[in-house]
Amino acid sequence: MNCLNNLRQLKAKGEKITCLTAYDASFAQLLDNAGIDIILVGDSLGMVIQGNETTLPVTVDDMIYHSQQVHRGLKRALLMVDMPFMSYTNPKMALETAARLMREANAQVVKLEGGVWLVDTIKQLATYGIPVCAHLGLTPQFIHKLSGYRIQGRSEIEAERIYEDALALQAAGAELLLLECVPSKLAEKITANLEIPVIGIGAGSTCDAQVLVLYDILGITPGKAPSFSKNFLAENGSISAAITAFIEAVKNGTFPGTEHSFK
Ligand code: KIV
Repeated sequence: MNCLNNLRQLKAKGEKITCLTAYDASFAQLLDNAGIDIILVGDSLGMVIQGNETTLPVTVDDMIYHSQQVHRGLKRALLMVDMPFMSYTNPKMALETAARLMREANAQVVKLEGGVWLVDTIKQLATYGIPVCAHLGLTPQFIHKLSGYRIQGRSEIEAERIYEDALALQAAGAELLLLECVPSKLAEKITANLEIPVIGIGAGSTCDAQVLVLYDILGITPGKAPSFSKNFLAENGSISAAITAFIEAVKNGTFPGTEHSFK
């Protein structure tokens, strides 16, 4: 099984880390066999599997159901699982949710969305041995507050807030940071100044790791694909070849290009 220590070593060596989402055993097995470093059971399942317009309807039971399936397909990738909307509104609730995700679904890392207000929650989880990935930038659980899926951190004030949040969450004990839809320059500054590995999606090429939604790289997400994503199936002919091409492109630095990043 992959572990956080391996990810820290990859960051230290300057080697890129790969991550894709999966929601079932068959895709998990394909990703694992292809050599992916991290599999994320994202609450994006609310959109790409359940057909909802947002991730908000996803429940802890949904996350457990899909994570159990993914776990059955895994031999070596690290399993990261999203804490869904409203399942971590205080440290006690966060502990209960994370414990279920770890006990019942074999999560190795739990991911939660939000800034400095999560410091006490992350400290509590870390105290009890629960590794956390903090998610900043475009946080889809805040979609109505953010008024849509739009790039975050473009103004100086916003960029500074995201940077300060990142430092505070690392200091609280976060083991990983995920940055979604932020300008490449901001992601570069955060990645350079954080000791923990930084995973980017729509955050430019300098992040330590890249994640995409599996259904986006296979071109099967309903509706318009996000501009930061790429359909790897179109050029590669089979699902396995598309997954391998994504891994190779991240490892050799050809993905994401400037056309998949924001200024
Ligand atoms: O839910 C998800 O799949 C995610 C990714 C978009 C990073 O959080």
